[in-house]
Amino acid sequence: MSQYLSSSPSLIDLNQRSLYISAIAIAFNPTFWNTVARREYHHKSLTRLFNGNSQRACYALALTIFSLGLFRDALYERALRSQPTHPFLQQPSIPYIAYALILTGNILVLSSTWALGITGTYLGDYFGILMDAPVTGFPFNVTGAPMYYGSTMSFLGTALLYARPAGVLLTGEVLLVYWVALGFEDPFTSEIYAKRDRKRRAGKKTE
Ligand SMILES: *[C@@H]1O[C@H](CO)[C@@H](O)[C@H](O)[C@H]1NC(C)=O
Repeated sequence: MSQYLSSSPSLIDLNQRSLYISAIAIAFNPTFWNTVARREYHHKSLTRLFNGNSQRACYALALTIFSLGLFRDALYERALRSQPTHPFLQQPSIPYIAYALILTGNILVLSSTWALGITGTYLGDYFGILMDAPVTGFPFNVTGAPMYYGSTMSFLGTALLYARPAGVLLTGEVLLVYWVALGFEDPFTSEIYAKRDRKRRAGKKTE
């Protein structure tokens, strides 16, 4: 039976453990940073760990999130290598599309980090490190979440470059997980800034 299965051309090899490990890493990362950031917001748990230095605590979280991202990417590539390729993704035009996606994705991620700074990118708002004004220039005039869509594009580009349908599936998971993360993060950060603005207005009135 299993011989029949393995001899038929398959899109995705569900028997590879690396596929599930990659899927878990993809779901884990945003879950981790949302959990840690909310604990920081409510209990100052990370800032306390850094003797009250919220700037340093935020940088430590940034480094952790960044490293977890690299680890997740490595697990993704490892999963792809043990998956079957598909002729449809081996057409000569595919690598061009793949490189265009990876390039655009990296531009979105890097330019948004440049625009927001390290603390702005890595959940500084939760540490009380707020931006003076919302960033509206590039890449935020292209999409509201350049970091997430840029990252998704890089995942898809890599899947195409490896010609692995499994990569397209995992990219779908990346997008889904980011949508869920945005659903948690956007209202929360909006409220943090709304609170700051209410305080500012109240401060002006008493002056
Ligand atoms: C976004 O802003 C940049 C300059 O910051 C500009 O060159 C670009 O055309 C804008 N894009 C859109 C879609 O408005």
